[in-house]
Amino acid sequence: MGKFITFEGIDGSGKSTQARLLADALYAQGQDVVLTREPGGSPGAEEIRRLLVEGDHARWSGETEILLFTAARRDHLEKTILPALKAGKIVVSDRFADSTRVYQGAARGDLRTIVDRLHDAIIGVEPDLTFIIDMDPAEALNRGLARQSGEDRFEELGLGFQKKLRAGFLALAQDFPDRAVVIDGNGPKEAIAQKVLEAVTGHLQ
Ligand code: ADP
Ligand code: TYD
Repeated sequence: MGKFITFEGIDGSGKSTQARLLADALYAQGQDVVLTREPGGSPGAEEIRRLLVEGDHARWSGETEILLFTAARRDHLEKTILPALKAGKIVVSDRFADSTRVYQGAARGDLRTIVDRLHDAIIGVEPDLTFIIDMDPAEALNRGLARQSGEDRFEELGLGFQKKLRAGFLALAQDFPDRAVVIDGNGPKEAIAQKVLEAVTGHLQ
């Protein structure tokens, strides 16, 4: 089996940037790497992604959202993640199940029990290593909205929501100390990438 590495954190914290820099660095070392993301990461899951990230933020109930994210994750797992891990590759994913635990499970009402039960029944896989990129929500929100991607259904929920998410991710790091590493997202992206690579190198040995 290969290794499964995920990046988590609030919107705009630099996850996608760090996931890409890590994949590039591992590839440069000669490793077989698959860079992927959630929601999405397989053709079917990318179709579900559009239902989730576009449109009005009140479009789905918390329960429906959990089902859609989990459906997308199951397809991503079947079509992309598990085949790559079985082939001995390193899978680097920009978000995974921890995002559902925090976004749907903690920040939007007490749905965590449903999230956990569905995860156990349908997904049942945890990453080997998870980086939680931590940073000030005001700063991250500026970065995120500056992109104007049209995929801002969650980002439009504002600063109070992002603060809840940040606390949720930090609490999660305490719940999963064996795999979770909190990384300060402030500072030059190259310096952050160096810290990430050191942690991965230590973990892969
Ligand atoms: P996320 O995937 O967490 O939403 P991104 O990696 O897309 O975050 O980064 C959000 C924005 O911030 C992008 O415009 C990106 O270029 C920029 N960015 C990423 N990392 C840094 C950093 N360390 N310092 C300043 N800007 C950054
Ligand atoms: P993403 O594309 O990673 O957004 P960003 O680059 O802004 O961080 O994810 C899209 C949105 O979906 C993001 O606001 C987080 C949210 N999300 C959930 O609410 N639950 C989930 O399980 C996942 C994977 C993402």
